[in-house]
Amino acid sequence: MCYAIPGKVEAFVGENRVLIDYFGEKKLAINELDEVRIGDYVYAQGGYVIETLPPDYAESVLDLWKESFFRLQELDLSLSRAPEAHTQNQRLLRILDKAFYGKDLDRDDLLYLIHLEDPQDLEYLYRSANFLRHKYTGNSCCVHGIIEVSNRCTCACKYCGISVHNRRLPRYQMSVEEVKDLALSAIDRYGFKALVLQSGEGLPLDYYVSLVRAILEERSVFLCVSFGEVGLEGLEALFAAGARGLLMRFETSNPALYRELHPGKELSSRLEHIRHAREIGFLVFTGALVGLPGQTLEDIVNDILLARELSAEMYSFGPFIPHQDTPLAEARPPDPELMLKTLAVMRMADYRQGRILVTTAFETLDSKARERGLMAGANSIMLNITPIHQRRSYAIYPNRAWRDEKLETQIDEAISLLQSLGRAPTDLGVKT
Ligand code: 5AD
Repeated sequence: MCYAIPGKVEAFVGENRVLIDYFGEKKLAINELDEVRIGDYVYAQGGYVIETLPPDYAESVLDLWKESFFRLQELDLSLSRAPEAHTQNQRLLRILDKAFYGKDLDRDDLLYLIHLEDPQDLEYLYRSANFLRHKYTGNSCCVHGIIEVSNRCTCACKYCGISVHNRRLPRYQMSVEEVKDLALSAIDRYGFKALVLQSGEGLPLDYYVSLVRAILEERSVFLCVSFGEVGLEGLEALFAAGARGLLMRFETSNPALYRELHPGKELSSRLEHIRHAREIGFLVFTGALVGLPGQTLEDIVNDILLARELSAEMYSFGPFIPHQDTPLAEARPPDPELMLKTLAVMRMADYRQGRILVTTAFETLDSKARERGLMAGANSIMLNITPIHQRRSYAIYPNRAWRDEKLETQIDEAISLLQSLGRAPTDLGVKT
């Protein structure tokens, strides 16, 4: 969004990547624009070069940013110093030392971490995750905007408030024009450079493809789609239309639990979609629900390992929040601590490169989630661009955070939090 700064292209790397310089900090991005030359100023977001910029304009924006850029770096550095261990837990110290010395943590290490309960141990884990986030990925923070284009859905997922179980919910489907206008206003008025389009599953593929086309015909922006299982050919059609990100959680890595929660569906089909998307060139954002009924801590570690194995560009883990109009109405949400632990353990599992989202569901569960998550390994957030009246009907779970806040308010709050934590608008880049 407006939280983005231009970078200067320094070199071409491999087939389609460029190295971009932001005041001395280097990030890789995928480039599909023929016109890009070394020395050009560009905006990159979501790991993609979005557009080239006139040098005068770019330099004036950079001038405005220069001072605060270094101030933010200093601030993040001071907030993420190597933590002092106020714990006597030798096993924990050994595991975290492994990461500090650049060794990979194994499954047993991650299992040990997810079982931690002692507040001092947890504090040490969170600070270590934040330290490693800073050390390897710097103070960049990704801010994407999401448009929830329709709450129609043909799925019967037992946890989801927009599934077929919810007969009381008024359903909406935005027209292509409506979505295009929303996207253009997010891009032109608020400076968003990366947008996620999301809906329930089962709408016609033509509709999804038209949305992507309509936006990309007018503007250059990183578009990520999240329409559920559209079929492998559907994915190809969306990619051909210009979408470059796919947000699709596998929800749980436990096949039996998956089957139980998604009647008539199989985990293998979900994973086939995610893997195929990756193969055809999508950047994949994936993860799981945390705290599902019947889910164990071991399942959560398996989720973390699966997300890593899928070469996710960004990890999206959120808590399950029961919805009154679903079969899981009586279930309980997880302890927010478990959610925070999951983010920190995800960071420990992929500390060199992980891009980790703090989700709105976590913010719904814990009003301090955004700050707590960003200080425990996360480095990305999402703002909601859906107009308020439709946002309220996109009730995947009740009382969603930010469901009543105007976009301007969301932007102001996001920027002020990111600035208070020393996070910069540089693109996180793509994984190497
Ligand atoms: N609580 C939290 N997240 C939910 N989702 C669906 N229902 C719920 C719920 N009750 C999440 C799923 C889906 C994403 C769009 O919303 O993980 O992938």
